[in-house]
Amino acid sequence: MSVVVLISGRGSNLQAMLDAGIPVSAVISNRPGAGGLAIAARRGVATAVVEHRRFPTREAFDAALADEIDRHAPRLVALAGFMRVLTPGFVARYAGRLVNIHPSLLPEFPGLATHARALAAGAKRHGCTVHFVTAALDHGPIIAQASVPVLPGDTAETLAARVLAQEHLIYPRALRWFLDGLLVVENGKVRVKGNHAQLVASDRA
Ligand code: GRF
Repeated sequence: MSVVVLISGRGSNLQAMLDAGIPVSAVISNRPGAGGLAIAARRGVATAVVEHRRFPTREAFDAALADEIDRHAPRLVALAGFMRVLTPGFVARYAGRLVNIHPSLLPEFPGLATHARALAAGAKRHGCTVHFVTAALDHGPIIAQASVPVLPGDTAETLAARVLAQEHLIYPRALRWFLDGLLVVENGKVRVKGNHAQLVASDRA
């Protein structure tokens, strides 16, 4: 019942998963210098690097990535700041057991620079979303969301920090629901069995 986590960078969501006791069997990065690799190593979690730039095509990279993932036979694959677009073939291979966290209240602001775009749009609330990954980038059934206020004077950095604190709360929680078999997907919508809130509304500045 283990989880393989894919990262590209700092790894603060990975850290939150480990702190929450999520059973992470391996961490794989497409960048050799990713800070999250050191976090994993310190905790005795297996690490691997599959460098995308060493492969001629996305398909070849994704095939090598899948080989590395499958060595650990995970129940679930969690993207945590993994900055590569995955091929439809890869997504299909892990259908129903591939999840991501995105720093916006999807379906608003898919893609990059979400915090700056929320500020530019004058949004009064912003947040993050844990969702199943489907072939469409930053779409897919929503498992959990957290919202935070956008405050006067916010910069992309202050807003990102407020959102990130909520990411660290809802991502481990959503993974636990998955591992406990509590998630039901019906008509593209996710329900959690039992009495669990899929929306966290934080008013913390
Ligand atoms: C997070 O904001 C996440 O939502 C986004 O990339 C960032 C990763 O941060 N997909 P970290 O590497 O987990 O610290």
